[in-house]
Amino acid sequence: MTTHHPSAVIILAAGQGTRMKSAIPKVLHRIGGRSLLGHAMYAARQAGPQHLAVVVRHERERVAAHVAELDAQAVVADQDEVPGTGRACECGLDALPADLTGTVLVTMGDVPLLAGDTLLELTRVHEERGSAVTLLSAVVDDAGTYGRVVRDADGELAEIMEFKDAKQRREAGDPDYSHVVDIREYNSGIYAFDVEVLRRALGQVGQANAQGEKYLTDVIKIAREEGRTVVAHPLADLQQTEGVNDKVQLAALGKELNRRVVTQHLRDGVIVVDPDTTWIDADVTIGQDTVIRPGTQLLGATTIGSEATIGPDTTISDCEVGDGASVVRTQAEHAQIGPRTSVGPFSYLRPGTILGEGGKIGGFVETKNADIGPGAKVPHLTYCGDATIGEGANIGAGTIFANYDGVAKHHTTVGRHSFVGSDSVLVAPVEIADGAYVAAGSTIEGRVEAGQIAVARGRQRNVDGWVARRRAGTPTATAAQEALSRQETDGARSTDDPADGIPDQTGGQHRDQSSQES
Ligand code: UD1
Ligand code: MG
Repeated sequence: MTTHHPSAVIILAAGQGTRMKSAIPKVLHRIGGRSLLGHAMYAARQAGPQHLAVVVRHERERVAAHVAELDAQAVVADQDEVPGTGRACECGLDALPADLTGTVLVTMGDVPLLAGDTLLELTRVHEERGSAVTLLSAVVDDAGTYGRVVRDADGELAEIMEFKDAKQRREAGDPDYSHVVDIREYNSGIYAFDVEVLRRALGQVGQANAQGEKYLTDVIKIAREEGRTVVAHPLADLQQTEGVNDKVQLAALGKELNRRVVTQHLRDGVIVVDPDTTWIDADVTIGQDTVIRPGTQLLGATTIGSEATIGPDTTISDCEVGDGASVVRTQAEHAQIGPRTSVGPFSYLRPGTILGEGGKIGGFVETKNADIGPGAKVPHLTYCGDATIGEGANIGAGTIFANYDGVAKHHTTVGRHSFVGSDSVLVAPVEIADGAYVAAGSTIEGRVEAGQIAVARGRQRNVDGWVARRRAGTPTATAAQEALSRQETDGARSTDDPADGIPDQTGGQHRDQSSQES
């Protein structure tokens, strides 16, 4: 079977979209991580055309800039003041090479569920039947305000009549057309045309109709009168042809798109525990046997490896997550989360976070521009910004990387297998070499060399008898008195005063930490 590709696709996107009640142009509204127009352009590109034109008019500058951003090869065509889909299409053709031959597809910028495969199928049906025009139609109980597919006695497509025109004919008592309003087959507005027929016929289309517009649909009647084949090809999957006109439809199609995306991931081997509360943008990729727990959103250009666990209640935008990683109750943006890492719960990974293989970002940690080496751990309650942390380093609970001096941001480096004790402040710019320690509760402003421990905190001073003198009569004083009497009886008071004046533990939290790890 040969594959049929159109020579061009024209996307109509000049309409106003007043019912959106929005300052944002209709086709720039987003579902599934792409604009409506982005979905239309994506499907168009999948059909493999040589040329792609987008017809614009309303909010021209914003829409044209968006087109250029998405696809530098796409041509922006301006529609003039003549209204209607026919004129829009003519303006699109004018922006394409004059000697274009073959099949031109026409689609709309506000029909986001239309699939590239459907456009390929439309092109194939059109070319195999040697048609001049093939349109996608759909059959429903009530065709609403869509254009009606009028078929002749043999069931062949005769013409498309707009709802408003059909209604006028009925009201005027026209016996040939009074039934048209009741036709249940409608025109989706997605077509394949023989470009020569399209160009010639559009030259003959006028504006004498209920809306005073130049209708693209009038091309069908003209082509048929020329003796050419015209076909209405019903599409079973109705939602592919549904347009967005208001925010109710935007939400409904957004939900349906998500359902389709999630279903595809399930078919591809991803384990999605609760499809109803899982939102996955169209461009996200996920490896096999990764588990997506409820309440998770995977957004933008996110890629997730295989056998990872994501969620519950996690939002990941534009991130790369490696195989076997676990990301729990986390918000992450523009971050790289390496293979077999562990993140969360309740952490916030901001842009520029890189977590090396096997590393850990635990609970209540915020990171930004932080390159955390393989196997390094930032387990609890830390702000880590503008930092490089070497392989296997351990950042104690409550450590703050003080990266901002009120004017500029500065960098902090923590070397390989170094250990920062709990509740430390690392005042950037500062560097802690490989294999160094920082004692708990330190404020570090100067370089710490390899093999050193830096202690930068007030020394502990114990004042005997203070409670008895200053808090006499309190339960604390009573407890102290009782304890001291017991100790006197036991004769067991001890003092801790190692030779170098530095205890061999970096702090109480250090001991807690090591017992929490591994
Ligand atoms: C059109 C079809 C109708 C079909 C319906 C499907 C005509 C005359 N009618 O209806 O048979 O059932 O689509 O949705 O074609 N546009 C422009 N320039 C314009 C007018 C429209 O670019 O001057 C674009 C819009 O941005 C939109 C698309 O064309 O993307 C369809 O326009 P819309 O007004 O929604 O459709 P109708 O003309 O009502
Ligand atoms: Mg219209």
